[in-house]
Amino acid sequence: MHIGQGFIRADGRAKVDGSAQYVDDVRPEDCLYGATVRSPVARGRLLGIRQDPNFDWTGITVCTAADIPGENVIALMTDDQPVLAYDELRHVTEPVALVASADRDRALHAAEHIEVLYEPLPPLFDAEASANSETNVIFSDDNIFSHIVMEHGDSRAAMEKTEGMLVEATYRVGLQEQLYIEPQGMTAIPREDGGLTLFGSMQCPYYIVKALKRVLGHDRLNVVQAVTGGGFGGKEDYPSMVAAHASILALKTGHPIKLIYRRDDDLRATTKRHPAVLKYRTIVDPADGRLLAADAHLLFDGGAYNTLSPVVNSRGVIHALGPYQCPHVCIEGLMVATNTPPNGAFRGFGAPQVMFAAERHMDRIARTLNLDPVEVRRVNLYRDGDVTPTGQRLTDVSATEVLDKALAHADSMEVPAPVDRPGGGGSAAQLSRGRGVAIAWHGCGFTGNGEAALKGKVDIALEGRDVVVYSASTDIGQGTDTLFPAIVASILGTDLDRVRNAPHDTAIVPDSGPTVASRTAMVVGGVVDKGARQLLDALRSEVGDRTGELSFDQLLACRRSTAHLRINAEYDDDGLEWDAETYQGDAYPTYGWSCVVVDLDVDVDTGEVFYRRLVQATDVGKALNPIFASGQLEGGALQALGYATAEEVVLDEQHGMMNNRLTNYIIPTSLDAPPMETILVENPYAGGPFGAKGIGEIPHDVPAPAVAQAIEAATGLVLDELPMTPERLIHAMEIKVQ
Ligand code: MOS
Repeated sequence: MHIGQGFIRADGRAKVDGSAQYVDDVRPEDCLYGATVRSPVARGRLLGIRQDPNFDWTGITVCTAADIPGENVIALMTDDQPVLAYDELRHVTEPVALVASADRDRALHAAEHIEVLYEPLPPLFDAEASANSETNVIFSDDNIFSHIVMEHGDSRAAMEKTEGMLVEATYRVGLQEQLYIEPQGMTAIPREDGGLTLFGSMQCPYYIVKALKRVLGHDRLNVVQAVTGGGFGGKEDYPSMVAAHASILALKTGHPIKLIYRRDDDLRATTKRHPAVLKYRTIVDPADGRLLAADAHLLFDGGAYNTLSPVVNSRGVIHALGPYQCPHVCIEGLMVATNTPPNGAFRGFGAPQVMFAAERHMDRIARTLNLDPVEVRRVNLYRDGDVTPTGQRLTDVSATEVLDKALAHADSMEVPAPVDRPGGGGSAAQLSRGRGVAIAWHGCGFTGNGEAALKGKVDIALEGRDVVVYSASTDIGQGTDTLFPAIVASILGTDLDRVRNAPHDTAIVPDSGPTVASRTAMVVGGVVDKGARQLLDALRSEVGDRTGELSFDQLLACRRSTAHLRINAEYDDDGLEWDAETYQGDAYPTYGWSCVVVDLDVDVDTGEVFYRRLVQATDVGKALNPIFASGQLEGGALQALGYATAEEVVLDEQHGMMNNRLTNYIIPTSLDAPPMETILVENPYAGGPFGAKGIGEIPHDVPAPAVAQAIEAATGLVLDELPMTPERLIHAMEIKVQ
């Protein structure tokens, strides 16, 4: 049994010795380099392009929308986003033309010598103005990508009751960049049958297949994942764009094309976490802060195209109140278009945004009633048998357990001393200390009927004496290529080195669905588990082992044939009942629960926050590999600390990212990481492999509000907007002094 042990990563050695093949490490013969010509304006009518007559165009190929063999659309949820702009420019950095050259620098220079000709149109930048505008529309009818109303009980009547106390506020969250290790990149290689092989950095190979079928007008294509250094949602949909561009150039030139974004290009052009304005109104019991009724209005800025924004709105609406019971609820979520580069998927899909608001609102209730913020949470936390605003009756709720465990752990140990470092936080600084506590819930897997509709598929094959797992579920650093074989080896009772994952190449793997939504280990891992058991059953019936007493190796020894045996396993219908119209039913098969305790110091002169320690207790169902699980939770928490106090996307007048460098978009590094204590709470979930739940996203949900509460405890400053940069803290201190 390997499950539950800290087995070694299959990809570890190659990443340490440098032999791992990322997209830019592979250069096919006769390969040309691509570059992208982008819109310089937020909005305009596209008139054409002009190639600089003084530039030497020898050996340079230029493509525009006219070179697209099939449809000019990136197929995802809706068909609004073109591969290359052709009528209207809807955001700065929107792709307009492509160039290719045998020389990488010359390709980039050529792109700079193509001028985009346009007639300016008035851009819409403000989400609220966009939502209310009937005349100024970015698309044909209105600016609304998604509008959801989720109602439970009768919140309108309950809001008017006078025995409770009204607590209301508006919370704001900003953009955040995923900042995966290597920028977006794709290689398109012409195949002998006239089709293409795409090799690149990605989360979801079959998303690219789906998109390229439309762009190419045929399906002679396969998509192969390169070693991918993180995605965090940023490599869900955007790789389809890069793949389409590389394909168009490859078809026109007849050469393999490498299209690798520079970091500055990647930061300016690709999707970010949606900013939001989140208005909360609640009626609470003045004695203990219990929620009696809640109304929330969520306004998300989707940017210029839909991408995966409806999913973000959906998850935002469902998670909007946090892990708290409330009898009367009305949540309205609005996702609108603006002339900003499209925002998209990012770890948590809207949940970190709304849970910042939900948790700050709990703090506001506590402050208003002069109660302890932890106690107000405790009174409201979900318990077994409680009903969510979608009408789902909860079981196996471990919200109180994670709270108790995190607090007990935090109290049992001395808080580490502040780190003495040059530039601040040292012994000379004026430090004020505080602690914050926040609690998250997070639905695992796709929402509602998503998994049953997709029916994720995995093949498990006996090939000689080895077993191979075929799935489209990419390893993007979280360990899938190690975990799936470990699940199979544990079920077969064999060594880890006898089982491996096949390369994620759509020519040979079935569609197990995208690597998103905290679904891979839990949902696809469950299909892997099922397939391994089916393989064992098939072997037993082949050799006539009716009692099931032979080991895997004995079964192999008894086989008369050496033929490969391939099992096709598929997701079982889960019986979830969900109505996407009314937003009522079982929103998720199960939920993760997590509590975060942050201890920090605020430098009251500079507004800087210095983290001392982060404790988290998270219900993971079962830790398939405790080292991987802790790694996910700690990495996610560090990314969330960046969201809390460091990461700020500054937009220029065209709403392009101005600080698009790693020197001025600041994320926490290992040096900024506080000591972390991670408690893996194991309450097995019957639907997951060995009881595992999804844990990819939950660590990003509530570190930021825990930090806000800690800053408030340290300084008395009430910050309801992310990020809480030193500048914002200083500004708040100045207001407080006045
Ligand atoms: Mo995606 S936001 O990586 O589920």
